[in-house]
Amino acid sequence: MFNINNILRENIKNLTPYSSARDEFQGEASVYLDANENAYGSPLDEQYNRYPDPLQYNVKKRLSEIKGVPIRNIFLGNGSDEAIDILFRAFCNPGIDNVIIVPPTYGMYQVSANINDVALKRVPLTTEYQLDLEGIAEAIDKNTKLIFICSPNNPTGNSINREDVETLLANFSGLVVVDEAYINFSRQKTFIQELTEYANLVVLQTLSKAWGLAGLRVGMAFASEEIIEVMNKVKPPYNINEASQKLALKALENVDQVNEWIKETLKERDNLVLELKNFDFVLDIYPSDANFILVKTTDPKAIYNFLVQRGIIVRDRSKVELCEGSLRITVGTPEENNILIKSLQDYK
Ligand SMILES: Cc1ncc(COP(=O)(O)O)c(C=O)c1O
Repeated sequence: MFNINNILRENIKNLTPYSSARDEFQGEASVYLDANENAYGSPLDEQYNRYPDPLQYNVKKRLSEIKGVPIRNIFLGNGSDEAIDILFRAFCNPGIDNVIIVPPTYGMYQVSANINDVALKRVPLTTEYQLDLEGIAEAIDKNTKLIFICSPNNPTGNSINREDVETLLANFSGLVVVDEAYINFSRQKTFIQELTEYANLVVLQTLSKAWGLAGLRVGMAFASEEIIEVMNKVKPPYNINEASQKLALKALENVDQVNEWIKETLKERDNLVLELKNFDFVLDIYPSDANFILVKTTDPKAIYNFLVQRGIIVRDRSKVELCEGSLRITVGTPEENNILIKSLQDYK
């Protein structure tokens, strides 16, 4: 039922991608005079005078081992935000096509849609923060190209029911983008394993969360080879810089450290929930599968300002639909979480 040619923009289908010096000559040589680089070096201890690998082979090779996905099914972006933008640019005709989002959800889907002049259809989650499948079915029309599902969802923290996502994958003829930025903290398993099952699935992950590399800007998209080829065609040639590739590769050797942090974060998340429940001004804490919790309070603005005065910054999500009264609190180190709880004890 899914056919990439039915959803790909005509100009992208016909696009001749930029061919970089690194694309045209691959292999080892002793004298590189092909890319107008500075042959002397960089005014730094480390040398960055050469352009980086446009397709980030070494990083992908390591990710392929960790994730159990062939390299040809991996795209790397300057953060997963870049992957989101590229999906819009490759598949959505400005002023004609539309995408579906299911608020409350991650804000960049809407911003990317607005930047690309792509109409947005909003089908709110249910009060249990799950998909309204009937609403989504009604919203889909012949110009609907993408549906964004964030699971675990930001800002609510919960995972979306797997069978519901599979229903969409089986019935929608556009792409279902499952954003798994927080998957490492989740009890649910990743959708990556379903790539062989569903040709219209794109899974987004990132090194910005559990991997602790938000400053390097490395995001991943996992999809069929034909989707990845399109994304590579549309991306800027050198979208992951050399320093990020080197450091990401080094970090990817430290799986044990990351797993240790994940365990610690989950323990801290449970503690934080127990502590926060004691406060009168906390009305509800939504079950979280992520490294943050959404906390419904009597007075979000006042609590937010109170914490700011003490140098503690949380995220006020109280203006977001279905999140009325809520603050989103990232789980910190045990010390940071203690400071938060101690400060809140002084509130009112
Ligand atoms: C759900 C979700 N997706 C994607 C991102 C962006 O991640 P990256 O840092 O890889 O661009 C975030 C960042 O907060 C997020 O919450």
